[in-house]
Amino acid sequence: MADPSSAANATPEQTVLVVDFGAQYAQLIARRVREAHVYSEIVPHTISAAELESRKPAGIVLSGGPASVHVEGAPRIDPEVYELGIPTLGICYGAQLMSLQLGGEVANTGQGEYGRTDLIIDDGGLLWGAEPADQHVWMSHFDSIVAGPAGAQATAHTDTTPVAAFEDTGRARYGVQFHPEVVHTPRGQALLERFLYDACEVHPSWTTASVIETSVEAIRAQVGTGRAICGLSGGVDSAVAAALVHKAIGSQLTCVFVDTGLMRKGEGEQVVETFRRHQGIELIHVRAADRFFDGLASLTEPEAKRKSIGERFIRVFEDASGGIEDANFLVQGTLYPDVIESGTSDAAKIKSHHNVGGLPDDMEFELVEPLRSLFKDEVRAVGSELGLPDEIVWRQPFPGPGLGVRIIGEVTPDKVELLQEADAIVREEIKSAGLEREIWQAFAVLPDIRSVGVMGDERTYGHPIIIRAVTSDDAMTADWARLPYELLEKMSSRIINEVPGINRVAYDVTSKPPGTIEWE
Ligand code: XMP
Repeated sequence: MADPSSAANATPEQTVLVVDFGAQYAQLIARRVREAHVYSEIVPHTISAAELESRKPAGIVLSGGPASVHVEGAPRIDPEVYELGIPTLGICYGAQLMSLQLGGEVANTGQGEYGRTDLIIDDGGLLWGAEPADQHVWMSHFDSIVAGPAGAQATAHTDTTPVAAFEDTGRARYGVQFHPEVVHTPRGQALLERFLYDACEVHPSWTTASVIETSVEAIRAQVGTGRAICGLSGGVDSAVAAALVHKAIGSQLTCVFVDTGLMRKGEGEQVVETFRRHQGIELIHVRAADRFFDGLASLTEPEAKRKSIGERFIRVFEDASGGIEDANFLVQGTLYPDVIESGTSDAAKIKSHHNVGGLPDDMEFELVEPLRSLFKDEVRAVGSELGLPDEIVWRQPFPGPGLGVRIIGEVTPDKVELLQEADAIVREEIKSAGLEREIWQAFAVLPDIRSVGVMGDERTYGHPIIIRAVTSDDAMTADWARLPYELLEKMSSRIINEVPGINRVAYDVTSKPPGTIEWE
């Protein structure tokens, strides 16, 4: 398979690089910079000054990090970076490191600051502009900057931190002890924008429209007169990738949609309707439910079920795509967080994720990954701009093995139908309560048990349905959603009244960890 770095992802001319010193800070900073319509990428702190210079950034932001600058082995940056003449902003750890490496002083004063903190601006300077002298900022630090870099002037202080912000406009070096990227620093975005527009002198030109334009050009340059295939899952990432590639190369793209029979109610039809009818994309719709159910017969162990679904998916996809002559490019909806994580993550395997839609290594395709530099919310904005319906653009994450891992025990067509009906009610009610975008995932689970109930005068012995609804930012951790009782009651009575065979509804109140979002 080709090196993914050859994929069609266009880098705009003006880029601000965020140097990552750990934790989640760097991603948030990059997102804030992009919200200011300036393209931003994350680089590791191990990058050399020469490498960094070769990327020709318009500005550099040194992120916060969990370590103390005084700890042995604390992450550093090549000090030559400061001599490149590129405007640099240090945030929290980044500001402390700049001070330490540039002749200032960082002390363990024994008085850290955490949370909302009052800050006094002593000197407007470039970063502060005409801001009012009293500000609320979000702090999270133990060490304190006693003296900023040599030649820099302190521009703000707090009760316990003498240098809460500094700048050396001549050498374009700036630092803040607090976190301007978090929402709890109300004027933080304005400060970041002054750094970007006034210190780095970048223009706010990175917009959804410009992303589409540059991607289209890059895709055309990569694919040329070749043919591309895209596997559609119904999810937002593959949908937006397909729509973008279709805009670039039109009929040179063929999409393959494998209907596993394990999708949610009405989903298969919706995918075909959207892509074939509305987007005019050539689409091969493979109805393969029987093949998947055959494979699942008598399987009950979750990983065995995943494996069966994953393997069949690949075979069905290969059969379908083998019929597309001369196809030499494969479109994938890889996102920027996947790219960042694949560089660093060695997280333990808890479930064999992404096996469906993941493709065999021996396929002879060059990858086209037009979303490689985008965060999820940016992908959604691109999807809307390309005319994809809200149901697809705002679709909640859905596991590749589909309802196969939401039916505990053996999966049969009857059970899938039962679950589809109950699940549709859960989602309809979440939607009419206006909670669709607030809730990360809401769905129904069908366990492999039955219980006794009474309906009318009759004893029933039916299946329960478990409702699972969680809030999350990234699916790594999640909390059970505090849904209103009235909403739960409505879901419960509708499921019992409208789905024959269900006589009990339970709500899952487990967060992740210790639970996982899915039940299998
Ligand atoms: P868990 O259950 O591990 O899920 O908390 C985290 C997120 O991943 C989704 N998920 C999957 N996605 N293939 C996928 O592509 C899978 O096998 C799979 N299992 C879980 C899940 O829906 C949640 O968003």
